[in-house]
Amino acid sequence: MKYYITTPLYYVNGNPHIGHSYTNIACDTLARFRRLEGDEVLFVTGTDEHGQKIKEAADAKGMTPRDFVDSVVPKFSELWKKLNITYDDFIRTTEPRHEKVVQAILEMFHKNGDLYEGEYSGWYCTPCESFWTKSQLVNENCPDCGRHVEQIKEKNFFFRLSKYQKWLLDYIEAHEDFILPVIRRNEILSFLKNPLNDLCVSRPKARLSWGIDMPFSKDHVTYVWFDALLNYIAACGYGADEAKFKKFWPADIHVIGKDILRMHAVNWPIMLHAAGLEMPKTIFAHGWWKIGGDKMSKSKGNVVDPLEMADKYGIDAYRFFLLKEVSFGADGSFSEEALVSRINSDLANDLGNLLHRTLSMIDKYFSGIVPERRDIGLADDITKAMAEKAGKIEHGIRSAMNKIDFSRALAVIWELINMANKFIEQKAPWKLSKAGKTDELKDMMYDLYEVLRIVSVALWPFMPSTAEEMTRQLGLSETKAELKYLSWSLARSGTKINKGNPLFPRIED
Ligand code: MSP
Repeated sequence: MKYYITTPLYYVNGNPHIGHSYTNIACDTLARFRRLEGDEVLFVTGTDEHGQKIKEAADAKGMTPRDFVDSVVPKFSELWKKLNITYDDFIRTTEPRHEKVVQAILEMFHKNGDLYEGEYSGWYCTPCESFWTKSQLVNENCPDCGRHVEQIKEKNFFFRLSKYQKWLLDYIEAHEDFILPVIRRNEILSFLKNPLNDLCVSRPKARLSWGIDMPFSKDHVTYVWFDALLNYIAACGYGADEAKFKKFWPADIHVIGKDILRMHAVNWPIMLHAAGLEMPKTIFAHGWWKIGGDKMSKSKGNVVDPLEMADKYGIDAYRFFLLKEVSFGADGSFSEEALVSRINSDLANDLGNLLHRTLSMIDKYFSGIVPERRDIGLADDITKAMAEKAGKIEHGIRSAMNKIDFSRALAVIWELINMANKFIEQKAPWKLSKAGKTDELKDMMYDLYEVLRIVSVALWPFMPSTAEEMTRQLGLSETKAELKYLSWSLARSGTKINKGNPLFPRIED
């Protein structure tokens, strides 16, 4: 099976913040999970580099737009490396491979009449790079961001969105998983009850030159949305590598934030349909991270830097927090207190403790060698329940991941971790040791070790370095990163463990 997954292309007029890192961590987790399943994954991220606000940001620094974007892009690619984001391709809208596709599609739409020239008069919001009609304005400001808009009148090219409105409505109604979660699907269905305006896709060069040349008009460029959305087909070989395109298109999932839903769930499907291409299988819009209920913004000075969080608390703790704290699709509230509390409870107390005390006991009682388990079936109720829970983990994770529910998938893993911790408390291995019940103690250590081995496989998509460190401490030489290794009873007695430092030391105040 192939699995093609995309992130939005990030604007390069500012530094990456937690919102951007959230989408990429989520996509990385999905991509890694699919690789565990054995799928051939194409995971694409990148940057959106044209348009007025990039030009303005470059002007403010006294740089050419080209030099400016070249200087910002590494901030994104380096952050992704640091956060262990295993993308397969990084596409920039200023690359020739992308620009060629944009021009080819423009040419096609111009020829078939889906693009026409007209006079445009409207209100323009630069931060959102969007035109609005007078009736759409709220208190004479942009209805999306509330900021100042300018009135503009000019000759431009328009894409016939309106012509395909009925088709889109029928398509969405017939495909339940096309827009997720369902609240976003309903939002688009209700938006489509009103007539769609055609989409202005050009800018006169006299006003903006930092875009892609329109092949049929020397006076215009195309820029931002019409430009950037096409990366999704450019990155998988459209017009350049037919075999690759055939293999990977349609995308399995476009993961985006809820603020850019309309562009993805209305404009993009219509562009694809007009180009005679298949629809992506799912467009999933996640929620927003806020800070104490407020939107993050430079002016409020509350923008959270992902690098700082990862340096301070660890990459995996940061990944874990974002994926566990809210169900994907809902909004979340970010705070260091909440992050620390998750680290102390779920990571230090539950997971770290289970690994550390199990390995300490194997060291103490069996000189660091995983003991043999008696072949007596599952002796008692807790042991039985633990093996049963472990047996269900593969199904539980798969069904949560198929619903793009990271928080649920992690909860499934934590049910097993918590059960194993309870098992230790209830059976008190130190008492077994004192009483000389060596066989029972061996069974118990084997079972705990087995839980940890399974957890190390299951955690890999979410917390890759932690999973690898667990694998190392468990003395497993090869990383068994495949879902089939989630089966119970695969641990080998006789394995020499390498107990290390606790994975997540508690953070005090
Ligand atoms: N360039 C466009 C996307 C083009 S895709 C063909 C764009 N870029 S962006 O940099 O402004 O935003 C990229 C993504 O980051 C969006 O999906 C947006 O929702 C997400 N986030 C920005 N701030 C966010 C939060 N505070 N929380 C969660 N995600 C948010 O839009």
